[in-house]
Amino acid sequence: MPIISIRDLVVEYGGRRILNGLNLDIEHGETMVLLGASGSGKSTLLRQIIGLERPLAGSVSVKGTDIVRCSPAELKRVRRSIGVAFQSAALFNSLTVEDNVALPLREHTSLAPSIIEMVVWIKLAAVGLADFGKLYPPELSGGMRKRAAVARATALDPEILVFDEPSAGLDPIVAAELDEVILVLKRAFQMTVIVVTHELPSAFRIADRIAMLYQGSFLAVGTKDEIRSSQHPRIRQFLDRAPDKSEHVRFIQAHMEKYLRSEEVSR
Ligand SMILES: Nc1ncnc2c1ncn2[C@@H]1O[C@H](COP(=O)(O)OP(=O)(O)OP(=O)(O)O)[C@@H](O)[C@H]1O
Ligand SMILES: [Mg+2]
Repeated sequence: MPIISIRDLVVEYGGRRILNGLNLDIEHGETMVLLGASGSGKSTLLRQIIGLERPLAGSVSVKGTDIVRCSPAELKRVRRSIGVAFQSAALFNSLTVEDNVALPLREHTSLAPSIIEMVVWIKLAAVGLADFGKLYPPELSGGMRKRAAVARATALDPEILVFDEPSAGLDPIVAAELDEVILVLKRAFQMTVIVVTHELPSAFRIADRIAMLYQGSFLAVGTKDEIRSSQHPRIRQFLDRAPDKSEHVRFIQAHMEKYLRSEEVSR
């Protein structure tokens, strides 16, 4: 049985349809990478998977529970098995890195302080931050902050990890390090990982399967090889990074050219 099962999921904001009847199964222990243009609804889909918002129609089932229709108590129980690191790392700047990671443990478990301390150390060590627990987030580099956010997301040993653009804004080397962290977590803890990313090298490094979102639907869901060898023009455009020559873009280009010509004339 898939650990996450999405059926006919429809999401609208103010009457504007963002997700148009999505279907997706995510298997236990697999890493699913969500690709798609900015604004295509990737973060919206993640919010549905963790039960932060209700859809207009359809269902999202996590570990056999329909989180659209379950009780608040059931939703809370399911949510505890999902670790989340969102687009902005969102650590508490007034707390040390250690305390940031300890927070979910203090809130959701009754573990003794000395045990919590040990768990925090293990989580920080797993992301290469064992020596930095006493620092505050503003004292860390961007990449370290992301890793700290990953450590916090794994604090409660979630079965499912959800990352929204973990490597956005990082230099390629640091981003690659974060990929390795994700691979290690997956191997060590057999986690199911869902990652939204714009970084293609990262997607192809960490994914078992890739789902491509376009205009509210999945253009393709498949293994890396299936996606890589796809001949679908939209997928090729995304993978080959071709600029979008839509009406809109042509309009702006034409205006820019006219403007530049008039600048030359007036000089
Ligand atoms: N809370 C909201 N209220 C209204 N519209 C929203 C809301 N959240 C998202 N949207 C709209 O839904 C669409 C999809 O947004 P979403 O954030 O899911 O895109 P995305 O694929 O994550 O983009 P990016 O790659 O830039 O993060 C956008 O057009 C956005 O304006
Ligand atoms: Mg987003």
